[in-house]
Amino acid sequence: MSIPKNRPPSDTPGPSHYFDPTPGAPSRPRTVFLHVGELALELQADRGVFGSRAVDLGTLTLLREAPAPPTNGDILDLGSGYGPIAIALARQSPQARVWAVDVNERALELTRANARAAGTANVTACLPDEVPPDIRFAAIYSNPPVRIGKLPLHALLQRWLARLASGGSAYLVVQRNLGSDSLAAWLASEGSEVQRLKSKKGYRVLAVRPTAT
Ligand SMILES: C[S@@+](CC[C@H](N)C(=O)[O-])C[C@H]1O[C@@H](n2cnc3c(N)ncnc32)[C@H](O)[C@@H]1O
Repeated sequence: MSIPKNRPPSDTPGPSHYFDPTPGAPSRPRTVFLHVGELALELQADRGVFGSRAVDLGTLTLLREAPAPPTNGDILDLGSGYGPIAIALARQSPQARVWAVDVNERALELTRANARAAGTANVTACLPDEVPPDIRFAAIYSNPPVRIGKLPLHALLQRWLARLASGGSAYLVVQRNLGSDSLAAWLASEGSEVQRLKSKKGYRVLAVRPTAT
């Protein structure tokens, strides 16, 4: 089995990661602020979860630059962390069902609590395998976990892009210096139509539409 770069084998003590299923870092909740357009929310974040000090700049760029979500149907936030993307989408599209998927249990608990506090009952936070297999997504939004390594990231995107409904698009934000352009080239080589919607402050926002859908 190949181990992604920067990730020790599971039986080797090493630093914990934001994508660990159960973070090793002791919990230390803190409040972060999400401001996007007219949306202003306080969210609870925590150690061991991505972006625990402040809402990530890439996440803000995605929310500001990607098209508004479909008004209904199922929408996926792939790698929800404590839920800033899922909750912003759910606020914008209260008739849609937003699936907030993550492998980090602490992140999922935070997403559930933040969604409750934000009054977004249309968010379902769950592990990837808990999403019913028949669901097809009208859109996918993601600040994807590039640090899991290139091959696991490709497998993750292949898995979920295949679940876009016909005509659906995925919107991804990736830092230029973390490989956004090579990711875009790989997605295109896999048969997706890839459009760079925005390049801002070192982040690229990509629109991805698998040509088979
Ligand atoms: C870059 S963070 C973005 C978090 C959050 N959306 C935000 O904007 O703050 C990527 C997230 O993907 C999650 N992740 C890692 N591997 C995953 C997988 N196989 N399936 C779903 N989520 C995963 C990580 O735990 C992490 O929370």
